[in-house]
Amino acid sequence: MDFLRELGIEDKNSGASTGQEWTKTKNQGELEVISPIDGRGIASVYSASGEDLEKILRKAEEAFHFWCMVPAPKRGEIVRQIGLRVRAYQKPLGRLVTLEMGKPIQESWGEVQEMIDICDFAVGQSRQLWGFTMHSERPRHRMYEQYHPLGIVGGITTFNFPVAVWSWNAMIAAVCGDVVLWKPSSKTPLTAIAVQRVIGQVLRENHFPEGVFNVIIGRGAEVGERILNDRRIPLISITGSTALGRHVSEVVGGRLGRTILELGGNNAIIITAEADLKLALPAVVFGAVGTAGQRCTTTRRIIIHDEVYGQFTTALVKAYQGVRIGNPLEERNHMGPLVDKAAVETYLQALDRVRKAGGRVLYGGKVLGGPGFESGCYVAPTLAEAENHWEIVQEETFAPILYLIRYSGEVKNAIALHNAVPQGLSSAIFSNHLREVEEFLSHQGSDCGIANVNIGTSGAEIGGAFGGEKETGGGRESGSDAWKAYMRRQTNTLNWGTDMPLAQGIKFEL
Ligand code: UN1
Repeated sequence: MDFLRELGIEDKNSGASTGQEWTKTKNQGELEVISPIDGRGIASVYSASGEDLEKILRKAEEAFHFWCMVPAPKRGEIVRQIGLRVRAYQKPLGRLVTLEMGKPIQESWGEVQEMIDICDFAVGQSRQLWGFTMHSERPRHRMYEQYHPLGIVGGITTFNFPVAVWSWNAMIAAVCGDVVLWKPSSKTPLTAIAVQRVIGQVLRENHFPEGVFNVIIGRGAEVGERILNDRRIPLISITGSTALGRHVSEVVGGRLGRTILELGGNNAIIITAEADLKLALPAVVFGAVGTAGQRCTTTRRIIIHDEVYGQFTTALVKAYQGVRIGNPLEERNHMGPLVDKAAVETYLQALDRVRKAGGRVLYGGKVLGGPGFESGCYVAPTLAEAENHWEIVQEETFAPILYLIRYSGEVKNAIALHNAVPQGLSSAIFSNHLREVEEFLSHQGSDCGIANVNIGTSGAEIGGAFGGEKETGGGRESGSDAWKAYMRRQTNTLNWGTDMPLAQGIKFEL
């Protein structure tokens, strides 16, 4: 395929790079990348070794000493050029994302757009790494705080947003003066290699040293665990399941390193009796079916008021009948395959548990077969009536299963159901009633990191801080002041007088 060549993807690819240089390791096994679209192999990657990691870390440490002293707006200039170059590769990069993990091409282009947008955001941020100035209690003293670069930032990302989530971290960290080490998902290594090659072009043109942007693809035991344990990496940002996040947090916390955790969600939309149902319908369908239910912001539950339950459910079933499932490279399709057969298995097991608990499947609930679906990774998007407290409803199943839950009475009853799950990423309410909306946004309202009104749970813009509470991990990435997590904060007090007064009025005469 021509676009793979254009992106520098070969039949067999090296698994680690420090910028433009790629390692030659071949004895750690080969990772075959299979497309869920048709079950065919795309290319393979030689897994990197622990030794490769060691070489990268040494280069990265060296590079940090150089990079942290480059003025931030000059670092921003490199990121600006990266953004321009990614614009030129938006179409082929998007195609690769779709080929590798199966999301519809429109969504993949949207994802690359997120990378372009965060580059632009980071360029502006590079001139705004500001700290406060406070008035000192002592005469002729100045007190202020400043932010310094942190060091090597590790980014561990998952398959569902193989470009965007890394770039939220990497582009912000880069303007902050950090160097980055990326360990992408073993399900989407080719996208990471392609992005590294695009960035490599910019680095070459700027005669840039190795070690600022690093990527490593390798087994967890050989590479992943070493990254978590290595004290040379002060910050690890990770996107993935709650189970993985717990492990990362324990290991990195054990060495008192820092983490940014962006873990599972169990996102719900409340539809009150005062909702504009015409607005709510497309938001719910896109939220539940987009990326085949594999976003961490996917809508997994809808909590519907009794009065509109029948009407909305009927409309929803009808809308689901119109969801076009098929080859995600074709622009007309709304939904492609799940990422692999293991994901299909998880979908089936979840449905089994829903049925056993007494749930009623209103639509879908099966694996699709026949022409075009030979890979075995295509499933029907599913609507199931369920109860919020069921064990399966309390879990995040990375598949297009939407649970319909009924409530009656006041909006506080819906909010109570809404918050009664362990996760806290994204949430929404559809209502035109001011009191209901404000209650949802109040201190006693949604307990999530993202709370929306009259829009869905997914598709957050890069300008806001992204992340959630409870088992979602508490981390924030991307916009707003998320940049502060990638820097080391320092309070400075400076005496420009001729006396030595002590704080708190303490007398210490010699
Ligand atoms: C994720 O699924 O990990 O808000 C990130 C959204 C996207 C990002 C999702 N902007 O759905």
